Amino acid sequence: MLRGLSLSTPEPDAALQEGKLLDRVYNTYLLMHTHQTVDFVRKKVQALPGHCSLRKMSIMEALELLDQLVDESDPDVDFPNSYHAYQTAEGIRQAHPDKDWFHLVGLLHDLGKVLALFGEPQWAVVGDTFPVGCKVQKSVVFSDSTFHDNPDTRHPLYSTEYGMYQPRCGLENILMSWGHDEYMYRVMKFNNFTLPKEAFYMVRFHSFYPWHTHGDYQHLCTEEDLRMLPWVRELKCVAWGGWDRTGGLGQAPPLQGEQPPSMTHPCSPQQVRPLHQAGGAA
Ligand SMILES: [Fe+2]
Repeated sequence: MLRGLSLSTPEPDAALQEGKLLDRVYNTYLLMHTHQTVDFVRKKVQALPGHCSLRKMSIMEALELLDQLVDESDPDVDFPNSYHAYQTAEGIRQAHPDKDWFHLVGLLHDLGKVLALFGEPQWAVVGDTFPVGCKVQKSVVFSDSTFHDNPDTRHPLYSTEYGMYQPRCGLENILMSWGHDEYMYRVMKFNNFTLPKEAFYMVRFHSFYPWHTHGDYQHLCTEEDLRMLPWVRELKCVAWGGWDRTGGLGQAPPLQGEQPPSMTHPCSPQQVRPLHQAGGAA
């Protein structure tokens, strides 16, 4: 997720580095918003069963692989992704000691990023997600400047508010932009993970910031989606701010360069709008 760069840059080198990071983030989203179309996502979904048969690996092997990856969509995270996985799992364990299945969700929620280590471009793996096949809403990051070359924005149906969907059709019936969330969700389904529905939901939509943090796309949601929303928010709150909320996550200290939670925490008042206050068709 793009959480914003720090506000002060005292050293010229730091400013230069920050500029490069922002360029990297912006270019990742530019590619994503140019190429993520209905046709692209459908092809990815159709190819997945064959893809899942190509290779087997354990959860721990996948976690170790993540150490090789730096997420190009995130200006704040220049540390191994496995660290984030353990930190999130530990945060959830402290906040919800009775929900062992939730601890596991924390550990594996980003495992789909291994796609980037097997030839998938980062714009099809990382970053915030959004529904394809309908009008892009304002809260999609860089929405004003990165979709101009996406053919779906000129499609007579896909460019409309509801696009190819019915009002309140439910997020489970939406075609989301292709990335590690959707991939991991489908891998869990393919492998018959025996986890609660909430776990699948959190994995699938944890990068859908325009919805879970900014309150957009409500016109496509059902009551069930709204019941699931607090779970998704809880995962994100622990994943990105748990060390602050719980008074420190034991062995997981604040990360180098971590911004104050009041600026970056997805649960902070300026970051989250309750759904009933947010825009979009009601
Ligand atoms: Fe993620």
